[in-house]
Formats: sequence, structure tokens, C-alpha cells
Amino acid sequence: TNRTFTMIKPDAVKNGYTGEILDKIIKAGYKVIALKYTKLTKQEAEGFYAVHSDKPFFEELTNFMSSGPIYAAILEKEDAIKSFRAFIGATNPVDAAEGSIRKLYATSLGENAIHGSDSDENALIEGSYFFSKLEEVE
Ligand code: GTP
Ligand code: MG
Repeated sequence: TNRTFTMIKPDAVKNGYTGEILDKIIKAGYKVIALKYTKLTKQEAEGFYAVHSDKPFFEELTNFMSSGPIYAAILEKEDAIKSFRAFIGATNPVDAAEGSIRKLYATSLGENAIHGSDSDENALIEGSYFFSKLEEVE
């Protein structure tokens, strides 16, 4: 499909980069379908990242993701999943391409500024974790 799900993570929000990141997302041609400012509880972060529950970094990840407010959004653009993952850059900012969101704004592998869904199926699951159908603007 042509939709992806993103979160501006607690580090980027805390560091004051929300406006710049949203501006870049919109200027890169992503249409905002839904947008929400919220804060995950530890339990909600564990639910969102359930696929990583057996990873050694699960505790660190879910502590971090529940440590402060985030922005969650559903975005639309042609080939959204693939193009958005290129746009945000590699998971570790050290490896992220010049000009990518993670290169510009991420702190570390763990605190890497932004999320992007890795498949159409996960984009739907993740988007519906935060938004009801009524909150999507076509
Ligand atoms: P997301 O868009 O956030 O899903 O990133 P990704 O798809 O590039 O990475 P992945 O799904 O494999 O991991 C999810 C998140 O876990 C990453 O974005 C990192 O924030 C975090 N993460 C991955 N590996 C590590 C690690 O070795 N240590 C820590 N602390 N966090 C990690
Ligand atoms: Mg991922």
C-alpha cells in the first residue's frame, strides 16, 4: 500500500526537533493522514514492541519509549514503507545516510529520533495501535 506509520521518539521531542522533523516529512511529500501527541506507558510500549520482546535491548527500548512524550502519525505517499525508511536512515545514526532524519537528529542506536514501519502489514497494525478509523483524514 501507500501508507506507513511513524513516531517521533522521546529523544527528538525532548531535544526540540519535532517542528523540523514534521516540516521535512511534509516537504518530502508525505501526506499526514493522522497525527497525535501522546505518551506511552511502559505497558503500552511493551505492547507496541512485542515483536522485539525476546531481544536483549527490549527493556532499554521500552523504558526509553515510555520515558517522554512522542508524536505518532500515519503518512501517505507512493511506496511509503520503502521510501520512508530511506528518508529516516539506518537504525544506527552512525550508519545513517547524510541528510537523513537519524543522521541529523538521532543521539544513538537506542535513542534514534524516529520510527518507520518495516512492512505494509506492520504499518496497519502499528497505525491501529494509536488511531481509530475516525481519526484518519483521507
Ligand atoms: P524502528 O523504525 O524504530 O522500528 O527501527 P528499525 O526498524 O530501524 O530497527 P528495529 O525494528 O530492528 O529495532 C527497533 C528499535 O529498537 C530501533 O529503532 C532502536 O531504537 C532499538 N534498537 C535496535 N537495536 C538496539 C540495540 O542494540 N540497543 C538498543 N538500546 N536499542 C536498539
Ligand atoms: Mg523496526
